[in-house]
Amino acid sequence: MERQRWDSRAAFILAAIGSAAGLGNVIRFPYVAYSNGGGAFLIPYFVALLTAGIPMLVMEFAIGQKNQAGAPVALGKLNNKFEFFGWWQVICAFVIVCYYAVIMSWICNYLVGSINVAWGSEPMRYFTEDVLKVSDSPGNLSGFSLSVLVGLIVTWVAVYLILRKGTESVGKVISYTVAAPVVLLIILIIRAVTLPGAMEGLNYFLKPDFVALLTPRVWIEAYTQVFYSLSLAMAIMYAYSSYMPEDSDITNSVLIVVFADACVSFLAGLAIFGTLGHMSLTQGVPIEEVAIGGIRLSFDVFPAAINALPGGQTVVAIFGFVFFATLLTLGIDSTFSLVEAVITAVADKWRLNKHRTTVGVILVMALVSLIYATRAGLHWVDLVDHYINSYGLIIAGIMETILIGWFYNTDSLRQYFNPISEYKFGKWWTYMIKIIPFILFVLLAGYFVEDIQTPYGGYASIYQWLGGWGLIIAVGVVSFIITKFIGKRKNKEIGKAVDL
Ligand code: PHE
Repeated sequence: MERQRWDSRAAFILAAIGSAAGLGNVIRFPYVAYSNGGGAFLIPYFVALLTAGIPMLVMEFAIGQKNQAGAPVALGKLNNKFEFFGWWQVICAFVIVCYYAVIMSWICNYLVGSINVAWGSEPMRYFTEDVLKVSDSPGNLSGFSLSVLVGLIVTWVAVYLILRKGTESVGKVISYTVAAPVVLLIILIIRAVTLPGAMEGLNYFLKPDFVALLTPRVWIEAYTQVFYSLSLAMAIMYAYSSYMPEDSDITNSVLIVVFADACVSFLAGLAIFGTLGHMSLTQGVPIEEVAIGGIRLSFDVFPAAINALPGGQTVVAIFGFVFFATLLTLGIDSTFSLVEAVITAVADKWRLNKHRTTVGVILVMALVSLIYATRAGLHWVDLVDHYINSYGLIIAGIMETILIGWFYNTDSLRQYFNPISEYKFGKWWTYMIKIIPFILFVLLAGYFVEDIQTPYGGYASIYQWLGGWGLIIAVGVVSFIITKFIGKRKNKEIGKAVDL
């Protein structure tokens, strides 16, 4: 079977940018920067990019491209014992995309709702009561929220249509889904910065507080943000790079992806804080109260900020539409990149027909995602998102850098990518791969101490286990079962087939 290929290197780079630039750039970065030193945050951010983001992305691209396979098989080819760690990433990607798709459904609902400004003067009430119809606890599923269910079906159908022909169909949509949010963001920025009060808002976002750099928290946040934003340790970048010919440039592609991702984050910061500044001035709410990140920013604070725009209902409708279209176009390519990571891993492992695998994987994901379309959905998204991102991913990152940095001839990878790349990386790259697991371990320990002291979100401990600790253990158990039992028989065959 011929391996699929990207049409061009540009298609590959755009797809990687599409995955990296997602909801995190808009609803996470501006807030994280603001609350961790403002303009001064750029310093730890660049340090984190240089010492962790860039080296790890180079590593993932190199392993995927060199071995021409998704994470489990590619890692397994480096060393038989490594395959488990690839599955760990794939299972995390599976878990994440099941709720990421539901967030896309919420966004679809708001996009349609923006036409008649359905959120009115109380966006939070609209979100929890009209769209989600949230129940009082995670255990109280109380049936589906119909509007979320419909949005979810639309999302999965879209994901299927985009991934139907693999790299070929992804290549066709990717230029639109990457360009569109940038254009939309620029529209939002132009509107925002010309509003009274906008400069105040931007000042909050960018005013450098160098003293903040003395606190460890700021540095931890920088590493977490870089890690999350570049979609690292999630089997995605392995899958995408495995569809490139073995001799394609790596380091230059990585620098483009990283630079583009950082630019999108920065642009989003201008749009968000410009608009919040205006709201703060006209409504008399202090910016400290409205500068938040996460789900509330997208579905509560920002709609309220748009409500404050001069020009009445039509203007609010237009800018609501532009904002949610930005989120939708930013999020969709992150969504299908996660799905593709799973499809590639499964198809490579059992040498399956790619189209049939695509249909099967999407069906299973769609079924699992139904839990989040119930009225308890918001609670489960909240729990699972916290645990899988703080533990599942960081553990995945620690494991992959320990393997490559300490149990593999790290320099041999450098000798692979340097000759084929425009920019040559020195010994520092090898050292960084060895050091990164220690940095990530500090992040992990920080989260752990915090969660032990105050269980996340105040949910009852049974739910912390079902949606959190238990889930992480399940990720390990499932990865183990796949590696040890389901995959064992075929392992040799794969080695042979690809080594020919
Ligand atoms: N990188 C994406 C963002 O910044 C988030 C993401 C994480 C997407 C993991 C896919 C997988 O929003």
